[in-house]
Amino acid sequence: MKVVSLVGARPQFIKAFPVSRALADRHEEVLVHTGQHYSEAMSEVFFEELDIPTPEYNLGVGSGTHGQQTGEMVTRFGELIEREEPDTIVVYGDTNSTLAGALVTAKTDAPLAHVEAGLRSHNDAMPEETNRILTDHVSDLLFAPTERGVTNLETEGIENVHLTGDVMYDAILWARTRAADHSTVLDEHDLTAGEYVLTTVHRAGNTDDRERLAAIMRALGAADREVVLPIHPRTADCLDTYGLRETVEEQLTVIEPQGYLDFVRLLDGAERVATDSGGVQKEAFFLDTPCVTLREETEWVETVDAGWNTLVGADEEAIEHELQREITLPEKPELYGDGDAAERMVALLEETDG
Ligand code: UD1
Ligand code: UDP
Repeated sequence: MKVVSLVGARPQFIKAFPVSRALADRHEEVLVHTGQHYSEAMSEVFFEELDIPTPEYNLGVGSGTHGQQTGEMVTRFGELIEREEPDTIVVYGDTNSTLAGALVTAKTDAPLAHVEAGLRSHNDAMPEETNRILTDHVSDLLFAPTERGVTNLETEGIENVHLTGDVMYDAILWARTRAADHSTVLDEHDLTAGEYVLTTVHRAGNTDDRERLAAIMRALGAADREVVLPIHPRTADCLDTYGLRETVEEQLTVIEPQGYLDFVRLLDGAERVATDSGGVQKEAFFLDTPCVTLREETEWVETVDAGWNTLVGADEEAIEHELQREITLPEKPELYGDGDAAERMVALLEETDG
């Protein structure tokens, strides 16, 4: 079976590597990178440390408006698919790269498989929500990480849904001990496990709104512990534009975006995490780190229902309170499968290929 996997943004490199490993030796995988993320710390570093082949193609699309970026990806990926003629195309998550892959594949004979299908935040203003819904509706094979994902798809009348578990859980099982054994990131930044708060902020809804970003940064700056911010380039740009960079750097420990193993080590060692990332909410749950989510809603609702994640939006007082509050984590339910999601997906791809 010849599989084309399409990736382009940081979380997709992490979601794709367990699938690449499961495909290796048995099938031909052509890994295609749209070029949506291109800075060394947002792209190359992952291919080096995750020990997966560098993509066979990089479409070099880069940054732009949603229309420009998605349109360029569709053009370039469409041309490539005509040449490659794969048996199946796999897309991951909910970025513009995901949507472009889905739009192209919907008009070919190859089946489209969507990894991380069925998630809904029910916030239509999120570009990712549009990407998810459209992708799910043109997919032929839907790999839902959670029961909730299956229910969401059933409600929308979508068929061929499979509960596979979450590839990010597969990834963390591979990474956690490796990170603990090999990462030197805590020493590099003079951090002691259990004594700092980790934070990541990059959602358009937070960064593109000066007031929201300023409120989040003020709340983080008011914490009584060291707060470490590996800064996404989008957030760095916005802080510059708003004239907030200097103050934030005085109050927080601002560091470059981290490689996966160093980031996992930072998250594992954090006393708690404050984030608007989708993936980091789940990884916090996997690594037993209490999570404060800087959004009003989440597609990972089961972490909130289980008492492992609290939604605070950009409300300054609520963030300060949640960072301060004594937290006793409840018992951990099994929510994301047992670490063999990628193997299950490959078995389902094989069945479909016949
Ligand atoms: C994208 C995804 C988002 C995902 C995030 C993961 C969409 C609509 N958004 O958001 O769902 O959570 O990736 O991190 O697909 N930039 C660089 N170097 C890079 C990449 C980006 O400097 O390697 C800067 C550019 O100024 C760019 C901005 O970041 O304009 C935003 O990048 P973009 O890929 O459009 O969106 P993200 O915010 O990264
Ligand atoms: N991540 C990383 N380095 C960082 C921040 C995040 O390797 O500095 C990883 C993190 O472990 C997770 C993924 O990137 O696996 C999440 O990506 P991001 O937050 O950019 O996107 P989202 O999940 O919100 O789409």
